[in-house]
Amino acid sequence: MSKAPCLEPLHRIETASVDELRSLQLQRLRASLQHAYRNSPVYRARFDDHGVHPDDLVSLEDLGRFPFTTKAELRDNYPFGMFAVPMEQVVRVHASSGTTGKPTVVGYTREDIETWSEVMARSIRAAGGVAADKVHVSYGYGLFTGGLGAHYGAEKLGCAVIPMSGGQTEKQVQLICDFDPDIIMVTPSYMLNIADEMERQGVDASKLSLRVGIFGAEPWTDAMRREIEQRMHIDAVDIYGLSEVMGPGVAQECVQSKDGPTIWEDHFYPEIVDPETGRVLPDGEEGELVFTSLTKQAMPVIRYRTRDLTRLLPGSIRTMRRMDRITGRCDDMLIIRGVNVFPTQIEEQILSIPELSPHYFIELRKEGHLDAIEVNVELSGRAVPGGSGDAEKALRHKIKSYVGVSASVKVHASGGIPRSEGKARRVIDKR
Ligand code: DLL
Repeated sequence: MSKAPCLEPLHRIETASVDELRSLQLQRLRASLQHAYRNSPVYRARFDDHGVHPDDLVSLEDLGRFPFTTKAELRDNYPFGMFAVPMEQVVRVHASSGTTGKPTVVGYTREDIETWSEVMARSIRAAGGVAADKVHVSYGYGLFTGGLGAHYGAEKLGCAVIPMSGGQTEKQVQLICDFDPDIIMVTPSYMLNIADEMERQGVDASKLSLRVGIFGAEPWTDAMRREIEQRMHIDAVDIYGLSEVMGPGVAQECVQSKDGPTIWEDHFYPEIVDPETGRVLPDGEEGELVFTSLTKQAMPVIRYRTRDLTRLLPGSIRTMRRMDRITGRCDDMLIIRGVNVFPTQIEEQILSIPELSPHYFIELRKEGHLDAIEVNVELSGRAVPGGSGDAEKALRHKIKSYVGVSASVKVHASGGIPRSEGKARRVIDKR
């Protein structure tokens, strides 16, 4: 269905040889460890405690000797204690709103903003974008990195940015109809919300100018990709990132291959570790994604534990390694009567039933001493009245057979599930 032209990478390094890439990484990794050790009292103390020094890094594998960094260190040093440059060099701060407690604060120098814009421009190009494109940005602008990250990247590539931000769904539709954007950047759950609003207004998505959607900031599935591509008549590609490491644009899926996001490894060095033991796992094995920044100045991160679960895959149309779709976060894994369940597994089952829409949330409750799971989902426009009984039974059965847990299913009327305007909240824990 690709309407996007086949495009050359934006930067030469994207297709450089593996040897060239590894040697650049080693050189940058040394510099990044030195910078963290010299200029951040937090890293200096942690390296000293572990008995390691940046000079101990002779090969990329030696990185495994250095201590991990977790969200706890960022919280303990709230708000600016992780910065490794004086405040006069910081030109921007962002923060991510943890579900509990204080936000995690990150900072950027002018050079960092330039690097971020470069990797975002590269990402939009990998998604099929060119300078002539108009880019409608519906990621939120503000402390969240989505809006401004997408914005600076699109400008860097030379595109015309429409900085719509999140919310005002009716207006989103109006601007998409009137301004004829080529690319939309938004969370997949909010894209569906916008698609519903288009349907309500009688807008025919096949007549729109949109060609590509760049979707991320929350877990989503290939089933969701197909749903969005069919409804919106676009190519849907995955973008990954997190504020602690930079923001969006740490990794981006190429539109030609749609085979998982390519990690921009010249700036962000990935490892996969066993989430329990911290042992480094070989490429191809699933575990927790860990990043070390190679070029960041204001707030370098060394072996940052993302809590995201995935595996590393070999490069395909870029030299750099890819990551598989994020299955979920370690923190989002539900353990229901001994069975590990991720919301994305439930999403896949919902999307396999045509009578159901992909708007859903999962509620967890205690029933006596046991955990009970209730999947709340909505009838799609395609549903026939009275069809909810069948859909409910079908979903219960599929969850039992494919996910391996007994869930109760509550089917709501169309419009009954709260809509997302950014990151969807998939789990409500009432235990
Ligand atoms: O969500 C940055 C971003 C903005 C990425 C826009 C992509 C697009 P945070 O708010 O710090 O930053 O949240 C980061 O979101 O650790 C993942 O758990 C999740 N996440 C981000 N992208 C994806 C993705 C932004 N493509 C956290 N697939 C990360 C699955 C994702 N999860």
